[in-house]
Amino acid sequence: MKLVSFDDLAPLPEVRVAASERAEALVAIQQEIGDCTRCPLAYAGRHKIVFGDGDPNARLMFVGEGPGADEDASGVPFVGKAGQLLNNMIAAMGLKREQVYIANIVKCRPPGNRVPEPSEASTCSQFLLRQMDVVQPQVVVALGATAATYLLGVKRSLSSLRGHWHRCRGAKLAVTYHPAFL
Ligand code: URA
Repeated sequence: MKLVSFDDLAPLPEVRVAASERAEALVAIQQEIGDCTRCPLAYAGRHKIVFGDGDPNARLMFVGEGPGADEDASGVPFVGKAGQLLNNMIAAMGLKREQVYIANIVKCRPPGNRVPEPSEASTCSQFLLRQMDVVQPQVVVALGATAATYLLGVKRSLSSLRGHWHRCRGAKLAVTYHPAFL
């Protein structure tokens, strides 16, 4: 399956969602996802769909790979061990978790925490793309190689992607290590 960057999936919307309407727009996306059965992850032991969390008007968005066991149980991204590290990263930036927006490439836990398959990521990407277009962050941080691969549509080493600015959905995008790796 050919990788396609989020920028090549769809043009940026001409009319941007106003700040006052972003929370409602996110709820509409979540409702459209519903009790999703669009990809095999729906039948792979998923408990909760992990939509995303944080400020609908955040200037900074983090994108991880996919929910783990704690996230699958709670429905909230990055609440387990990796989440504690992400919280520390956010605090070290002088921000509160409530000020940023956090989501994942796939919204359902891959069994055994395996890497999401390209077909699963591609099925789910339409929703993350729309979340990004609603929130309109200025900066996106891809957490780990999987998030970077699917957002940028390129399969390259993390070390070659790190330390450079990329672009994604009108935002600057930086790639860094996944907190679980750190
Ligand atoms: N790892 C991720 O990539 N996302 C989560 O939400 C939790 C762990």
